[in-house]
Amino acid sequence: MTAQLSKKGEAWSARFAEPVSDLVKRYTASVFFDKRLATFDIEGSLAHAEMLAHQQIISATDYADIVRGMTQIRGEIEAGSFEWLLDLEDVHLNIEKRLTELVGDAGKRLHTGRSRNDQVATDIRLFLRAAIDDICHQLHALRTALLDLAEQHADTILPGFTHMQVAQPITFGHHMLAYVEMFGRDSERMRDCRRRVNRLPLGAAALAGTTFPIDRERVAHTLGFEDVCHNSLDAVSDRDFAIEFCAAAALVMTHISRMSEELVIWMSPRVGFIDIADRFCTGSSIMPQKKNPDVPELARGKTGRVNGHLIALLTLMKGQPLAYNKDNQEDKEPLFDTVDTVIDTLRIFADMAGGISVKPQAMRAAALQGYATATDLADYLVKKGLPFRDAHEAVARAVRHCVDQECDLSDMSLAALQAFSPLVGEDVFAVLTLEGSVAARDHIGGTAPQQVRKAIERVRKQLA
Ligand code: ARG
Repeated sequence: MTAQLSKKGEAWSARFAEPVSDLVKRYTASVFFDKRLATFDIEGSLAHAEMLAHQQIISATDYADIVRGMTQIRGEIEAGSFEWLLDLEDVHLNIEKRLTELVGDAGKRLHTGRSRNDQVATDIRLFLRAAIDDICHQLHALRTALLDLAEQHADTILPGFTHMQVAQPITFGHHMLAYVEMFGRDSERMRDCRRRVNRLPLGAAALAGTTFPIDRERVAHTLGFEDVCHNSLDAVSDRDFAIEFCAAAALVMTHISRMSEELVIWMSPRVGFIDIADRFCTGSSIMPQKKNPDVPELARGKTGRVNGHLIALLTLMKGQPLAYNKDNQEDKEPLFDTVDTVIDTLRIFADMAGGISVKPQAMRAAALQGYATATDLADYLVKKGLPFRDAHEAVARAVRHCVDQECDLSDMSLAALQAFSPLVGEDVFAVLTLEGSVAARDHIGGTAPQQVRKAIERVRKQLA
């Protein structure tokens, strides 16, 4: 049933004895945020009208009038001259009302066989599909920028950490490739989610379907949907596609946040591994010397709000009986903010990756501290025949000795090393160098510079 559109000071329809209060009107209205769906709403309406005409549910003249009216409305919205009215509650009723003003009865016939319930579900899916495509595009740009950085620093050595303690030497290229992998999985998740977003709710009408001889496949095809939603109740009430999207978005932001944390630490003068171009940093209003990594800090902070949106949508859905409930109107602001935050963040990070200057000297100096090649020494002894646990123990004693003497393993003489294991020979010193250590990890997924180059090559092919 098409609700009669309420005008200012009027009841919602003839069914009602009094108008809603101004507060209720404001409380229930969504137009000031869902007007963002306008172009998708028009696209959906045109596809629906085309099908109605094709099925002879409305006349060809009505369809032509609807197209003409919608074309004008689109122009008005683009020009900013469209008048959005709170009294008309949401984007759907605002556009329908204007259409009727412009083309008369044809405008009133548009809603035949349709409800705002299947209409809004369609709009969100169209919106989200476009957003996912944009996000995939931004992920691609970010991965490309990180690959470039990895390539420039395939040989640059820094300490790898576990527990924030120096663990083993790694290459900076390898470290960047870890993020390339994460963002690659994010991209896969987005593409996978898109398949479930890309299904048509229209035709479900309010909840049970419609008595008109509609052709849902035709509408799906016009709108580029891969399938129709196969149950009308589910079509109007489900938002799991949006929740799934928010989960994928939360993971994108989680990866961004981890990277941000590292950038902030690396840029601290106490670490000094990198600098970030000035255009991504700000100063302090009181401390003239400061240059703060605001962009990564903000991205880390914004991750919290994206995570919050995921929880908001899950909570929105969990108590809802079938089918549509007005609760669902609350899906939009979290979803919009998630999309905006993720897209802006990815765009800025892709740009910022090109503005990271690496300081190989500082990285190298740090890798030389902390006995980063101790595992290499243990592996060396294993290759000479010592069981790994014994080798581990021998090297642990050698490290303890170095800590006491305030020297590095590579500073020890051959004789001094042999005191910890007679298996140590002249060839041990090659193993104790940073270059020897990284070069030795020469297998798929390892940190050796030549593996880094191969990995870059592999991902570049995927991205081409
Ligand atoms: N503004 C509503 C929403 O966003 C549109 C659907 C309203 N349907 C209804 N039966 N009140 O969900």
